[in-house]
Amino acid sequence: MQNFDYFNPTHIVFGQDRLNELDNLVPQNAKVLVLFGGGSVKRFGTLDKIRASLGDREVLEFGGIEANPEFDTLMKAVDVVREENVDFLLAVGGGSVMDGTKFIAVAAKQASEHSKLLSHGFEPLPIDSAIPLGCVVTLPATGSEMNTFGVVTYKQQKYPFTSPLVYPKFSFLDPDLTLTLPKEQIANGVADAFIHVIEQYLTKTENAKVQDRFSEGLLKTLIEDGPVTYNNNTDIDARKNFMWSATSALNGLIGVGVMHDWSTHMIGHEMTAMFGIAHGRTLAIILPSLLRERKVQKRDKLIQFAERVWDISTGTDDEKIDKAIDKTEAFFNSLGIVTNLSHYSINDTDIDTLVNNMKKMGLTHLSETGDLTLDIVHNILTSAK
Ligand code: NZQ
Ligand code: ZN
Repeated sequence: MQNFDYFNPTHIVFGQDRLNELDNLVPQNAKVLVLFGGGSVKRFGTLDKIRASLGDREVLEFGGIEANPEFDTLMKAVDVVREENVDFLLAVGGGSVMDGTKFIAVAAKQASEHSKLLSHGFEPLPIDSAIPLGCVVTLPATGSEMNTFGVVTYKQQKYPFTSPLVYPKFSFLDPDLTLTLPKEQIANGVADAFIHVIEQYLTKTENAKVQDRFSEGLLKTLIEDGPVTYNNNTDIDARKNFMWSATSALNGLIGVGVMHDWSTHMIGHEMTAMFGIAHGRTLAIILPSLLRERKVQKRDKLIQFAERVWDISTGTDDEKIDKAIDKTEAFFNSLGIVTNLSHYSINDTDIDTLVNNMKKMGLTHLSETGDLTLDIVHNILTSAK
């Protein structure tokens, strides 16, 4: 296990019927901007509940943050924050709204050159302040509610950023708020959370027993309760477990002291940018093919994954690995996610363009050791056809 620091200041408020507690957590004198997406929170009454619990505070609204939030939209919110002297941001939605709000929190404090905030990748932003923010989660998936990351679309490319200054002050995780999600969004969320764990777990074996066993617990929970939530809208216990798994998958805890991969995410981001396929879905398409391509590099951990996560105890090591990858793909398929590129009308020319775009973005050495080159990305995509 490598040395690490671990710090996570986000206050989680978990459970049903707790939105009235917003009143305790949003500063009493704050001028609040509530940010949301395309309207689901209005349609399903969440916004009314939030307004009620914010009481007499001055509250403004900014709606229309799209999935894969666009820089230009977010900059309109930055103008509102500045003109109105907003001093607290409340994100109500999924990863896109939470990420967008984090960007607004940072950009509102910068006088100019806002697009440059997107040029730092996974290096912490060189900033010294951000507007404080809180979240009300409506889609369990990204973990944005308890981490420092965001992803913003700018000129048809997706750019990640990170800063400890955008840790949400608090996040509400109420499973009831997710009951209106369409099934495919549940599937995307399960796949995204599952693959967040995989990108931090399925790397090199480093004798990090706590991280490994937390990860295996999360994967097993997602395998158990993801499909229950997908198939049965009324099972609130399953939904609670799914929701907390998604947050725990990317709140930093399982990723300390171990190598990370993130190749599937980097390829997936490009696929979303080019074809508009939802984030979690792109990952589920890529991962099985990536694992088949990387069997040698990930051999020891793949065997552990087969035995401990999929309970495969018979056969040779090679058979166990193959079976575990097949079961992983079948798991995504059972959530209605088709894992062949041809289903999404992506052909050889598209694959060439995608790989070229990754080259332009400088994404040429992926994986936990930087040995996953664009030729290998090409192979991964070609075998996912
Ligand atoms: O916009 P509305 O009308 O609210 O509809 C949304 C949206 O269309 C809908 N939705 C959300 N909650 C709902 C609901 N519909 C009905 N009932 C509800 N309760 O769901 C649609 C998708 O929402 P979105 O926020 O885009 O999905 P998700 O949470 O999957 O977020 C995806 C974004 O997060 C980024 C992705 O790149 C993508 O931009 N990621 C952020 C990460 C992070 N901050 O750590 C890590 C991830 O790997 C990921 O990259
Ligand atoms: Zn993700």
